[in-house]
Amino acid sequence: MVVASPNPIGSEKLIAVEVPIIDLAARGPKVAELIVKASQEYGFFKVINHGVPEDVIRKMEEESFNFFGKPASEKKKAGPAQPFGYGCKNIGFNGDMGEVEYLLFNTNPHCISQRSETISNDPTKFSSAVSGYIQAVTDLACEVLDLMAEGLWVQNTSVFSSLITHLDSDSVFRLNHYPPPLKDRDTSPSSSFQIHHQGNNIGFGEHSDPQILTILRSNDVGGLQICLGDGVWVPVPPDPTSFCVNVGDLLQAMTNGRFVSVRHRALTNSDKPRMSMAFFGAPPLHALITSPPEVVTPERPSLYRPFTWAEYKEITYSLRLGDSRLNLFKACPDKEAQE
Ligand code: OGA
Ligand code: NI
Repeated sequence: MVVASPNPIGSEKLIAVEVPIIDLAARGPKVAELIVKASQEYGFFKVINHGVPEDVIRKMEEESFNFFGKPASEKKKAGPAQPFGYGCKNIGFNGDMGEVEYLLFNTNPHCISQRSETISNDPTKFSSAVSGYIQAVTDLACEVLDLMAEGLWVQNTSVFSSLITHLDSDSVFRLNHYPPPLKDRDTSPSSSFQIHHQGNNIGFGEHSDPQILTILRSNDVGGLQICLGDGVWVPVPPDPTSFCVNVGDLLQAMTNGRFVSVRHRALTNSDKPRMSMAFFGAPPLHALITSPPEVVTPERPSLYRPFTWAEYKEITYSLRLGDSRLNLFKACPDKEAQE
């Protein structure tokens, strides 16, 4: 079903498209094929029967709401996010802003236990909730990545997942909290945030995720939208029983452009807080990002030059949230101009 609705910002269109839902209980070649199709067409899908235990999710969600419910002065003790820790409204280092507060962690257990000291009155409980959650979603990310490789007929099916299970993986975990706009908020044109007609503000502006794969879950409050290009946005209805999976820039590069790193954003809800938990699977800093031979053919030569995650990360940090970065790594930059 496709229904265009009046547009929230300028020349944008909101379209109700049902995003692909993949049932992982039916694991096998058919599922691998569906995952590949969704990753090519949308760079985004939902997974159900994902195997992440409910109590692991519940504990993480509880800890997260406990933290965001604290007074601002308490929360600030866990900041600033440079890059890890608590951040409020500032996203990254280059002036991007949104109606969001967040906690960002490196997934390394030492880093988590150290951070937990400033986040919770019971740091052991907090860090055990975070570690348990990260372990479970890493397993889910690996299962999905192996199915992707299988669906692409790549012989070494752990070619992608081995990067995020590596001891030195640079994966990160992020808790986002989007409070509803205050009733008396300044909505004058000079206000720094874009105000939507429905009273929804930009929580997390349009961007693609730079890593390999993102596993995101939210409470039952909507706000996530994915971009199908040309100002066409698809709202993703909230569903706490599923996980959203999206292709990151590195996976677009490693699949030689077969999969698309989907641009997306999150809006605030006008009366309820949205809380999302995102795991970003990333390789070690010095891993070389290349495509397995099966996805490079004479008809489809390498689109991108080999590069390291460290190189990519450095460029990402130097740009604005919404800037495209992968184009800078094209094997043949002239082709870009012709597209
Ligand atoms: C992100 C992101 C969306 C959301 O953290 O990269 O896209 O719904 N979050 O919080
Ligand atoms: Ni994102």
